[in-house]
Amino acid sequence: MPKLNIIILAAGKGTRMKSKKLKVLHPFAGSTIIEHILHTSYRLNPDKIIVVYGHQGEQLKSHLADENIFWVEQANPNGTGHAVQCALPMLDEGAKVLVLVGDAPLINADDLSQLITHTSAVLTAKVSQPYGYGRIIKNQEGTIQSIVEEKDANQTQKQVDEINSGIILTAANNLKKWLAKINTNNAQGELYLTDIIGLADEDGESFKAVKVKDERSINGINDRVQLAKNEAIKQDMLRENLMLQGVTLLDPNSVQIRGFIDCGQDITLDAGVILEGENTIADDVTIGAYSIIKNCTLGKGTRIAPHSMLEDVITKGDCDIGPYARLRPGTVIGEKAKIGNFVETKKTTIGYNSKASHLTYLGDCEIGDNVNIGAGTITCNYDGVNKFKTIIEDDVFIGSDSQLIAPVTIGKGATIGAGSTITKDAESDKLTLSRAKQKTIDGWKKPIKK
Ligand code: UD1
Ligand code: CA
Repeated sequence: MPKLNIIILAAGKGTRMKSKKLKVLHPFAGSTIIEHILHTSYRLNPDKIIVVYGHQGEQLKSHLADENIFWVEQANPNGTGHAVQCALPMLDEGAKVLVLVGDAPLINADDLSQLITHTSAVLTAKVSQPYGYGRIIKNQEGTIQSIVEEKDANQTQKQVDEINSGIILTAANNLKKWLAKINTNNAQGELYLTDIIGLADEDGESFKAVKVKDERSINGINDRVQLAKNEAIKQDMLRENLMLQGVTLLDPNSVQIRGFIDCGQDITLDAGVILEGENTIADDVTIGAYSIIKNCTLGKGTRIAPHSMLEDVITKGDCDIGPYARLRPGTVIGEKAKIGNFVETKKTTIGYNSKASHLTYLGDCEIGDNVNIGAGTITCNYDGVNKFKTIIEDDVFIGSDSQLIAPVTIGKGATIGAGSTITKDAESDKLTLSRAKQKTIDGWKKPIKK
């Protein structure tokens, strides 16, 4: 088996984006345009991925510092053919080379796997609006004779509705042979990679045209209008995939998926739900309208009511969260637990059947089973410099409007009287309270306006 080398072209200036940011680093479905192409590339198990960079290459390199990439600079970019020429010295001897364009993030691994079964092939699509793309020119037998760019095409060629995706496969030595012969005699005065197709045909080794399954997958991004259209297509694809796995979307078009989801069945997502990062969602979970779920693991039967925001949260199973709950990183919610409206948690574990139903802040807490946290309870976990823990053991009842000044432990079965400020550990099974005795002042008069 020959080695597989993938070249990703990303040296173009991306002028039409009108941006300080490199085109391929613009956000796309939860990461960036180029990361989508990279992740699709990894699925082909290549021996090497080479990224050709140019203008503002440092931005690209630092963003992708953790990826396994070979870098090639294309100083003074002069076309896609020139870009591939720059990468030639990096290719493995005898390798198959797959050239990808850095600005078409919808490309999928199935089409590419199909393409790389050939010796020399171009990924193409039949489209209703071929404007702007290179046209695939075939003879009567259906052999590709050349690819003609929009700006170089005559009227008859412009009628052709089969277009070049920009993605090409051939052997490393073929690339070397044909790229040595290309020139800049064209409308853009550039070295076109696509010119190797004509040269191959002259050598009697013509490229095969391999059509993509879904024509949407080859769309390129050249400006922000195309960026938005591609994002919408990607969202459609992700939502369709989710629905086919057994997830009900009550208003599909309003749901946004910005990352990866490992999901079970009979999950329901209401309007406006945003799923970010890596989420694992078990069977029978329901997520209410306009909730944002980021990097969470939601156990079977978790119910999230509308307008809740969860990040780095684990729920262990059947529990209720929200509406308007804010669960911050490090929150773990036990079965049968309830986190109600306007409750904020951070680095907090909540045990089986424990409840914080209203208006509460729980930070750096360990809360046992069957605990009831009254409305308005606040754990004072921060002295302005350091953070401290609050431990609330099983069967505790915390009266409303209490402050627990950490570090502090509330013993098993203790009750804290409402409105208390607790600075010392509270003993098990006892009532602890700290508040001034209620008194009534006789003869007191309301102030009069002077
Ligand atoms: C290219 C193809 C066209 C195809 C289309 C698909 C050529 C000559 N044309 O046109 O047939 O239909 O893609 O989207 O290949 N790049 C470099 N260095 C350069 C120029 C470009 O790395 O000097 C990179 C760009 O960053 C981009 C990719 O190559 O990621 C494609 O370049 P672009 O200028 O967008 O080509 P198109 O005009 O879209
Ligand atoms: Ca393009």
